[in-house]
Amino acid sequence: MIKLSSNENCYGCSPLAIEAIRKKYKDVHLYPELNPVALKEKLAEKYGVTSKNVIVGAGSVRIIDGLIQTFVGQGDEIITFEKSFVAYGQFAALHKHKCHFAPLKELRCAPENLLSFISKKTRLIFIANPNNPTGTIISHAELEKFLKKVSKKIIVVVDEAYAEYVNDPCYPHSFELQKKYPNLVILRSFSKIYGLAGLRIGYAILEEKLASQLTEGQIPFSLNYLSSVAAIAALEDEFFIARSANENAEQHDYLYQKLKKLGYNPIPSQANFIYLWFDKDSEKKKVYDLLFQNGIMICDMKIFGQEKALRITVGESSVNKKINVILNTFKFLLRK
Ligand SMILES: Cc1ncc(COP(=O)(O)O)c(C=O)c1O
Repeated sequence: MIKLSSNENCYGCSPLAIEAIRKKYKDVHLYPELNPVALKEKLAEKYGVTSKNVIVGAGSVRIIDGLIQTFVGQGDEIITFEKSFVAYGQFAALHKHKCHFAPLKELRCAPENLLSFISKKTRLIFIANPNNPTGTIISHAELEKFLKKVSKKIIVVVDEAYAEYVNDPCYPHSFELQKKYPNLVILRSFSKIYGLAGLRIGYAILEEKLASQLTEGQIPFSLNYLSSVAAIAALEDEFFIARSANENAEQHDYLYQKLKKLGYNPIPSQANFIYLWFDKDSEKKKVYDLLFQNGIMICDMKIFGQEKALRITVGESSVNKKINVILNTFKFLLRK
């Protein structure tokens, strides 16, 4: 089964990361560092901040959870978008906080749609950029306009798990914006283009005081020994990242064009997946089932409460060609 359902990097991970793991795997009887200093320093250097501005966690979802646990008190509220990354709403519910879901605008997380939900109770706002599952982005200008309007007491989190795939020049320079708006938290992941999803590692860049509050609530030793070793090596392999981004852009265009030609409704994406919507749920189900029967597993958005939509991770060239052949061969069956 070819898995195109979780937006992993179809090109694997950097060989430098594999080599780093190979060198260290015999040490797994040791505890990891309590504070992964080397990794934090590496990230701080990359983004021109200090290591006190960096938080790492066992996947960026752990940091999302930590942000909610640390900064949202009883009676406080969270805002995000409908048709966005499910974890925000799930963790809000887990911690029994009210979460408002603003509508998308033309399948984008348009920040102005958040404004009417903001109240004195709002503590955290999550914006996935690129958005999962639609793959759309908001621009630098849009984000800045929004930050200007929002109280500095509200923490605005931009979740940039897929940032390295983006090639639209309008994409926010969020590290620049953060200097002006210290309530902006930037969340990133090693699970996507870095190809380390199985090791569970993500990070956030945020204002020092917020970072220290967040660190206090973290579970000691929650980051495993090999993940920080692999992440440091992965950060050094710029060639792998550039190659993954370029191949993805090329393959995205191929798959997008083929899907369009076949008469589907794909949304142009700035990430490593394509969102497809259908007029009828039955038609969507046929496409899902046909690909599944032919060894390709994509994501039926129904599991995230979204009917009539599929999300396909952009795979390697041979896989995208296979999808095209399957859908083309059975197109009369699919359209009935
Ligand atoms: C927008 C977004 N943020 C965060 C994550 C989770 O990343 P991690 O594996 O670092 O927890 C995902 C995973 O699909 C995602 O789509």
